[in-house]
Amino acid sequence: MIDKTVADNRLLHGGDYNPDQWLDYPEILKDDLRLMKLAKANTFTLGVFAWSALEPTEGEFQFDWLDERIEAIYQMGGRVILATPSGARPAWMSKKYPEVLRTTENRMKMLHGGRHNHCFSSPIYREKVAIINRKLAERYGNHPALLMWHISNEYSGDCHCELCQDNFRNWLKKKYGTLDKLNHAWWGPFWSHTITDWLEVESPSSIGESMVHGLNLDWKRFVTDQTIDFYKHEIVPLREISPSIPITTNFMADTHDLIPFQSLNYSEFAKHVDIVSWDCYPAWHNDWEETKDLAAKVGFINDLYRSLKQQPFLIMESTPSGVNWHDVNKTKRPGMHLLSSMQFIAHGSDSVLYFQWRKSRGSSEKFHGAVVDHDNSETNRVFQEVSAVGGALEKIAEVKGTHKQARVAIVYDWENNWALNDAQGFSDSTKQYPQTLQKHYQSFWKKDISVDIVTLNQELASYDLVIAPMLYMMSLDTISKLENYVANGGTLVSSYISGLVNETDLAHLSGWPATLKRIFGIDVKETDTLYPKDRNTLTYNGKQYEIKDYCTIFERKEANILATYMEDFYQENPAVVENCYGKGKAYFIGARTEQAFLDDFYEELQKEGNLDSEREILHKEGVSVQRRDSAECYYLFVMNFTEQKQAVTLKESFFDLLTQEIKQEQIELLPYEVRVLKREK
Ligand code: GAL
Repeated sequence: MIDKTVADNRLLHGGDYNPDQWLDYPEILKDDLRLMKLAKANTFTLGVFAWSALEPTEGEFQFDWLDERIEAIYQMGGRVILATPSGARPAWMSKKYPEVLRTTENRMKMLHGGRHNHCFSSPIYREKVAIINRKLAERYGNHPALLMWHISNEYSGDCHCELCQDNFRNWLKKKYGTLDKLNHAWWGPFWSHTITDWLEVESPSSIGESMVHGLNLDWKRFVTDQTIDFYKHEIVPLREISPSIPITTNFMADTHDLIPFQSLNYSEFAKHVDIVSWDCYPAWHNDWEETKDLAAKVGFINDLYRSLKQQPFLIMESTPSGVNWHDVNKTKRPGMHLLSSMQFIAHGSDSVLYFQWRKSRGSSEKFHGAVVDHDNSETNRVFQEVSAVGGALEKIAEVKGTHKQARVAIVYDWENNWALNDAQGFSDSTKQYPQTLQKHYQSFWKKDISVDIVTLNQELASYDLVIAPMLYMMSLDTISKLENYVANGGTLVSSYISGLVNETDLAHLSGWPATLKRIFGIDVKETDTLYPKDRNTLTYNGKQYEIKDYCTIFERKEANILATYMEDFYQENPAVVENCYGKGKAYFIGARTEQAFLDDFYEELQKEGNLDSEREILHKEGVSVQRRDSAECYYLFVMNFTEQKQAVTLKESFFDLLTQEIKQEQIELLPYEVRVLKREK
């Protein structure tokens, strides 16, 4: 029986610990333990890239150093997350078995180097992984320090070697059965691309086929399935030998805009892990957005990863200061470390873990932020702020395992994102599907209304409001799921560029799907893509709002018109409508508007659905309040994401877990200050 909770009643604090880099420095290893206690760190992830230390030559295993470290951490009262080492392999393996190396999309065989670049099909790599994973499980699977398994590291990428091509063809055979079906789904006759033998199928390539959208989509689906298959192969010995230890693998985000990682469909992957964990590296204090706007994006992505399993998740990696791979690697300003760490917890994380415990001395990450710097000092600012986070996590430990409850859901669909990005039409630079969802999310984040970011695999019925903008790819099943949701009383919002193609990226025939016409009470006719400098305007409730990028031209059937276009040949045509359907309601936003429109539009829906009735804390924009619930009480994280002091009004009295005082009426938050307030139900 797998224990799906982390068997530790503390919020986890610590992170990636790489003693294998320091085996020649015994005094450093000794000092680590002293510093770990001072940092109030309790959990360490070992072995992530340790294969060459664990198996320096083929078949010769060295575990003494790991035995010693795990025991030392345990004796100190700490716990261990143990990684399988497949994220990077020793040089001897690449040299002896070149099959383990990846082939790129332009059919170039890689040399040894870097990491995250093995072939997922290679029988030899799979065999080597099975051997080392079994050894780790046999040796540590029942060690009392072991909290969790961490499989590989940030799975990503694809391999285009002959073994992978064969696997892809078999995957396609299983999916389509016949070439006729495959050719239909891929629209084969276009440019004479009809396939007459399975062996003619090749993965997408810049030196070959890249324009067949159905092929591109299937390749991405295959890569997700193949990665999950590799992961499932990795965990066989772990499940067998340590069935009660939960298993995770660390997910990631695409940087800059902090949008969901693109190349793997995490909604599929999440089904196979016991706990979702992920690595979060926002560019705080950047020069392109305000702190509060970035904070909302951090909220969005954490809510997405939390919603994948609708249970607390883990932050597996974050940085105590700066990273080394942003364009500019700015360090966190005083106070930001505590605030941003508490934000993880506020959105449902049960951990604040770092990459990495000690800064490497050499190679590419020697200047990446870490808890312990090259000065090995506990007095520097970063270490002090980390230990303050450790102290705060101890004070709020009772939050662990509590849940977030949301009545609003925003739909994020990985496959839709793939298909939409591939679509040649619209505008490459302005599609921005995930960024668009972030904007819709902002209108709720500003009001402290909890939101789940759900995928189409999930049930919608429990939500009062479901927001599904830019759902370009809609299968008939998706359409009927949305129809049921509205017919049974739900409120649905959709937008421009929705419902245009089916699940194999073929356009729906006979215009916009008939069911969508009925739900929204309109008939979509055209999508006008604007140049970046073009603008239009809509009027809504007597106010005017700017429009850019996309305008849908549609005919109203049964719907009520809420807003109309003011310019261009579709002037006075409807831009936003509302339609009663069954027991519910559906809204269609035809154009990409400025944020103020979304805020005002959703304010109406929030009032109508009584969605912000529970607000007990009043504040100005830039302060965020997030709630977690246990059966007996609830916790409000009040976070100031501005560079100014903020006055905050409490409508009830609360117990402040960080200061251990009762707080009521007015409180003042310093720049970047956070409070964790508790109240009995
Ligand atoms: C992560 C990775 C770590 C480390 C870190 C630096 O993506 O898993 O091993 O490289 O980035 O930020």
